[in-house]
Amino acid sequence: MRLFISGGASGIGRSVVMAALSKGWHVGFSYHRNKDGAHRLLDTAATEFPQQLCRAYQLDVADSRAVEAVGDCVLADFASIDAVICNAGMDVPGNLVAMADDDWALVLNTNLSGAFYLIRYFLPSFIANKYGRIVTLSSLAKDGSSGQAAYAASKAGLVGLTRTTAKEYGRFGITANVVVPGLIDTGMIGSDAKGITRFFAQHTPLGRLGAGAEVAEAILFLASKESSYVNGAAFNVTGGIDWVY
Ligand code: NAI
Repeated sequence: MRLFISGGASGIGRSVVMAALSKGWHVGFSYHRNKDGAHRLLDTAATEFPQQLCRAYQLDVADSRAVEAVGDCVLADFASIDAVICNAGMDVPGNLVAMADDDWALVLNTNLSGAFYLIRYFLPSFIANKYGRIVTLSSLAKDGSSGQAAYAASKAGLVGLTRTTAKEYGRFGITANVVVPGLIDTGMIGSDAKGITRFFAQHTPLGRLGAGAEVAEAILFLASKESSYVNGAAFNVTGGIDWVY
């Protein structure tokens, strides 16, 4: 199996890279600004999994031309890709009334348009192969989340994008599913997010935050052959919580 994931140098993405390598898959991942993290991951991969191909590509997913250029490199390096994971994401928190146009556009262009560009790029090769797995990363914020208007809109949009992909391309042997994580202990949470961390620890039925590796296992199932009849699903990995304030 050959997998490509955006935003692979940290957090959930890094966990996916490591878990995929440990299952014997070949992995391409993109990083945005975290060049050091990407190189550290490549070193780890080369030491622990010398038999498998692992390549890193610098990419701003909000740039459609860059997605196409990196996509061409990925297909040249790996010959073909079986699964694409649209994981890259970011947030600019703040109340809607004071949200700047640029912040709104940055979040939507990265989280939603970035996934669209990646899916659109890899679909023709998936159609030609009559096989492909697409996984996107939404959030409980998709149903609304105070102080996260742009992030919530982008994550709701990903559900529509993914389910549309599932319906349009299922007949070609391609599945598309969206993972909905709860609060996962990664760099994205930030050290100033004590309130949200307390909220999730208190209201999540499992009584704790999730780990990147726990989300990675769900992503890899949806990216594998074994998930053959799962298509258009919104797959919660939330510890049981299903709402945010
Ligand atoms: P993270 O900050 O470690 O990972 C996000 C990755 O996206 C980073 O590697 C970053 O470089 C990359 N990225 C950001 N902007 C980019 C751009 N313009 N072009 C290319 N790459 C870009 O955070 P985490 O937690 O691993 O997030 C991964 C995904 O999971 C994101 O889509 C996030 O929204 C989603 N998620 C995370 C949750 C959490 O609690 N940590 C909860 C729900 C969803």
